[in-house]
Amino acid sequence: MKESELSTEPIGQNLIKLISNLCFSVFVFSVLIFTVIAITYQPPDPWLESAPALTKLFTQTENATFKNDDSILKTGEDVVLVAAPEVPPALAINPITETVIEKSEEKILNLNLKSDCEDLKFVNCSDPRVLVTVERFNLKTFKFIVFLEYQTPVSGSKLDECDVAWRFRNKKEKSWRKYRDFRRFKFGIGENCTYNVVHAGGWHSGINARRPRNRPNTTSSSGNLRLAPPVGDEEINDTIPTLGSEMNFRKGKYLYYARGGDYCKGMNHYLWSFLCGLGEAMYLNRTFVMDLSVCLSATYNPSNRDEEGKDFRFYFDFEHLKEVASVVEESEFLRGWKKWNRGRKRKVPVKKVTTYKVTPMQLKKDKSTIIWRQFDAPEPENYSYRVCEGQAAKYIQRPWHALWKSKRLMNIVTEISGQMDWDFDAVHVVRGEKAQNIELWPHLDADTSPDALLTKLKVLIQPWRNLYIATNEPFYNYFDKLRSQYKVRLLDDYKELWSNKSEWYNETTLLNDGKPVEFDGYMRVAVDTEVLYRAKTRVETFYNLTKDCKDGINTC
Ligand SMILES: *[C@@H]1O[C@H](CO)[C@@H](O)[C@H](O)[C@H]1NC(C)=O
Ligand SMILES: *[C@@H]1O[C@H](CO)[C@@H](O)[C@H](O)[C@H]1NC(C)=O
Ligand SMILES: *[C@@H]1O[C@H](CO)[C@@H](O)[C@H](O)[C@H]1NC(C)=O
Ligand SMILES: *[C@@H]1O[C@H](CO)[C@@H](O)[C@H](O)[C@H]1NC(C)=O
Ligand SMILES: *[C@@H]1O[C@H](CO)[C@@H](O)[C@H](O)[C@H]1NC(C)=O
Ligand SMILES: *[C@@H]1O[C@H](CO)[C@@H](O)[C@H](O)[C@H]1NC(C)=O
Ligand SMILES: *[C@@H]1O[C@H](CO)[C@@H](O)[C@H](O)[C@H]1NC(C)=O
Ligand SMILES: *[C@@H]1O[C@H](CO)[C@@H](O)[C@H](O)[C@H]1NC(C)=O
Ligand SMILES: *[C@@H]1O[C@H](CO)[C@@H](O)[C@H](O)[C@H]1NC(C)=O
Ligand SMILES: *[C@@H]1O[C@H](CO)[C@@H](O)[C@H](O)[C@H]1NC(C)=O
Repeated sequence: MKESELSTEPIGQNLIKLISNLCFSVFVFSVLIFTVIAITYQPPDPWLESAPALTKLFTQTENATFKNDDSILKTGEDVVLVAAPEVPPALAINPITETVIEKSEEKILNLNLKSDCEDLKFVNCSDPRVLVTVERFNLKTFKFIVFLEYQTPVSGSKLDECDVAWRFRNKKEKSWRKYRDFRRFKFGIGENCTYNVVHAGGWHSGINARRPRNRPNTTSSSGNLRLAPPVGDEEINDTIPTLGSEMNFRKGKYLYYARGGDYCKGMNHYLWSFLCGLGEAMYLNRTFVMDLSVCLSATYNPSNRDEEGKDFRFYFDFEHLKEVASVVEESEFLRGWKKWNRGRKRKVPVKKVTTYKVTPMQLKKDKSTIIWRQFDAPEPENYSYRVCEGQAAKYIQRPWHALWKSKRLMNIVTEISGQMDWDFDAVHVVRGEKAQNIELWPHLDADTSPDALLTKLKVLIQPWRNLYIATNEPFYNYFDKLRSQYKVRLLDDYKELWSNKSEWYNETTLLNDGKPVEFDGYMRVAVDTEVLYRAKTRVETFYNLTKDCKDGINTC
């Protein structure tokens, strides 16, 4: 392995700084470990990456040419599920299909509504025939959408208009989360005295049907009861569960990972370690003690510095995590532990494990209430993901399905796709450091130049389509050339969705004890990824735009 190959890697540079005092062999070893994380954590499809394959990657360290594509972030909802997802009973709503619509029509016929055209001189929005007309129209117009439930339409701004609200799911999303839309429809009278849709308004145009928001008072993360302003998506409930009584605490069994050397490393590293811990807890049938405070590494921060104190819930769906895994928030756990121990002779039984070399299998029989893993050795011995290496990899499966993106970010994704009526194509343009690394990606820079892009895309995408560009190219005007052919959309065109007037801003501020939250690089990647996945035609950098390999020269 050549040193020059490594020094272009930012992670490598960080490491150099970190351990420059140590001898070179330690350095090489660390870099290898890191590179291997970069490979393994980013499998094209984490579900299909079997344990033996991961182990293989860990042992094949001689070619350290893999580079991490941090312009994409795949999580559980993007992945084709091996088994059908388990739908929480509360969310199991039957979609509105053609059959359902026909049934409602039958019911309407039985009502014996007069159907001479006299009746229909003006549009009565609560007439069930209006709703059926809209349902049918939507089903025909939005093929990617599963319509779940409608509210009774209400009047729009004119006599022949109604505003209709509904909940839906995108077929391209594998999660069961529901989103809301409300649109304004203009009706005419068809030849058989039936309603028909003359015009349908765009995304969120039916403002009269927007539900008044009455949200119950919620408890903030600091535990203070606050007067809840009418903010945001009232379906999100990612409050931190309390343990309740001391007895409840004592009944549980916990797996507690102390903060390891992973802290403030890349987000890939973070996820790889977090899912290892959660996987071990699942394997041991224990509740995982979770540190919701995340350190976001410098690469994703506009400030270009590591930033501590980011809330896990800014990025990921804690509500879903609570549903599918047994977790307890760290400070809640520590409070319970302390309370129990105070003034009691019999302390809570704790098993301290000070090295990752003690395997999950060895801990299986342990009856202690708390298994406390500590990671005190020097790097890279103090990375918590190492628990899942070697033999353990055969037993522990990282629960990728437990990790979904934050619904608050997904609402932004839905808004962007909705504003384009889900009728858009997308291109993923990977540039950044890879484009600068001529050695490993000799053609990437040229193949993603504005002229080359235009030439390639002309063949793949019809002119004047909406074209969403998911990219890590920071220069906004870089893609201007494509505007002569396409309606180009970039994430920054939707800035108002996270501005201080946005729902997202209100919601995250509330989550952050009233302090505004910055829309950081990791959030950008999450949103970019999901919009990309909703496109009708998707053009990828590797395979479609360039012959260079995703992971560097000679890797494909
Ligand atoms: C490393 O690279 C060499 C030559 O490019 C190749 O023969 C070998 O299979 C590669 N090893 C791995 C693990 O990819
Ligand atoms: C509109 O239709 C609903 C349901 O059919 C009916 O109850 C209501 O009286 C109608 N309103 C008007 C003004 O006709
Ligand atoms: C109107 O009714 C006639 C007879 O029932 C039918 O043949 C025709 O298809 C209907 N037209 C529409 C637009 O539904
Ligand atoms: C919310 O809290 C405020 C004051 O804390 C109280 O006046 C109000 O009645 C509460 N609303 C509900 C719906 O509980
Ligand atoms: C939120 O979820 C918790 C369980 O995690 C539940 O106890 C609480 O009642 C829920 N709150 C609301 C407002 O639905
Ligand atoms: C965890 O629970 C399942 C079912 O309750 C049981 O089959 C399994 O053996 C348990 N594992 C451990 C480590 O206790
Ligand atoms: C991990 O190791 C590094 C280097 O040896 C050290 O600086 C760091 O403090 C360690 N982290 C923890 C949590 O022990
Ligand atoms: C929102 O941001 C703008 C400019 O960034 C600023 O002028 C304005 O005062 C901010 N409003 C609030 C309510 O923070
Ligand atoms: C955000 O909160 C402010 C103050 O609570 C409110 O005036 C504003 O309408 C909210 N904005 C959105 C988009 O919900
Ligand atoms: C991009 O390449 C992949 C793999 O060769 C191919 O399946 C896909 O159809 C291509 N996309 C377009 C838009 O041509």
